[in-house]
Amino acid sequence: MVMEFRVPLKGLMGLLLLCALPWAEGAKVLVFPLDGSHWLSMREIVKELHAHGHQLVVLAPEVTMRIKEEEIFTFKTYAGPFTDEEYKQQVMRGIELVLETGNDVKALFELYKFVKNVSTRFLKSCTNLLHNRTLIQQLNSSSFDVVLTDPAFPCGAVLAKYLQIPAVFFLRFIPCDIDYEATQCPNPSSYIPRPFTRSSDHMSFLQRVKNMLYPMALKYMCHVIFRHYGSLASELLQRDVSLLEVFSYASVWLFRDDFLFSYPRPIMPNMIFIGGINCANRKPLSQVCIEAH
Ligand SMILES: *[C@@H]1O[C@H](CO)[C@@H](O)[C@H](O)[C@H]1NC(C)=O
Ligand SMILES: *[C@@H]1O[C@H](CO)[C@@H](O)[C@H](O)[C@H]1NC(C)=O
Ligand SMILES: *[C@@H]1O[C@H](CO)[C@@H](O)[C@H](O)[C@H]1NC(C)=O
Repeated sequence: MVMEFRVPLKGLMGLLLLCALPWAEGAKVLVFPLDGSHWLSMREIVKELHAHGHQLVVLAPEVTMRIKEEEIFTFKTYAGPFTDEEYKQQVMRGIELVLETGNDVKALFELYKFVKNVSTRFLKSCTNLLHNRTLIQQLNSSSFDVVLTDPAFPCGAVLAKYLQIPAVFFLRFIPCDIDYEATQCPNPSSYIPRPFTRSSDHMSFLQRVKNMLYPMALKYMCHVIFRHYGSLASELLQRDVSLLEVFSYASVWLFRDDFLFSYPRPIMPNMIFIGGINCANRKPLSQVCIEAH
């Protein structure tokens, strides 16, 4: 299974090369990652791009958990959303809240407040970054061929659009279907189970009703997290830009997903499944794990 997954990864590199370059030289890639586990799999692509002779610049916040300077790329930092101490606190708080959240309304409300607070900080850090003329001019004059970014933090998408550099999105999924809308991908709720519903693609009538209702709460959460990125892009580009337009900017969407993980579903030609990348750092299952099955 693992062997099969290598092919899409190779195909992807070829694709990046083709998109970015009509001639065979290394491309200049601006990487705008999201910290934490998101970076662990993006780093696999970064390593592979480096091995293929591409030049990489990774632009990340000063304080990070996992993104660290490495020989294979140029590391540039910006003032991120948190100080060192705050970051540790926020991560712990986030984990605590996610574990607490069952059907408890109070816990959900706390989670909502937390998400709102954290996303306000991310937005502020993004606004500062995009308003830093020195940095923007440096990036603009570096003539990057492509931006590789994680749209869960849409700052990279706004940056790519602002600098008019083609963008490749790298993600697992976006809980409120902006990914489907931005790619104009068919998304029938009659047989595509929505995140967190725990339904399969064979649903009873009531499960389908649930499948229609869940997205409303998720849409609201996404509205809280993302809504200002459209305004930020509008301000920079000096015309009306919707959030959907920011997300639609991607030339290619690389999904860390696979039909084997989730369900068969319609996809568009610029959506590529590279779920095997999650197995890049694989270890044998422990005996306990095997026996449990
Ligand atoms: C976010 O939370 C921090 C403490 O965790 C607090 O100091 C700050 O005022 C909050 N900000 C907003 C906008 O709620
Ligand atoms: C703007 O970016 C430059 C270059 O990265 C950096 O030296 C400077 O501190 C930044 N300014 C602000 C206000 O963040
Ligand atoms: C980038 O540079 C080009 C050419 O000099 C210029 O036209 C464009 O406005 C610059 N973009 C930004 C965002 O500064």
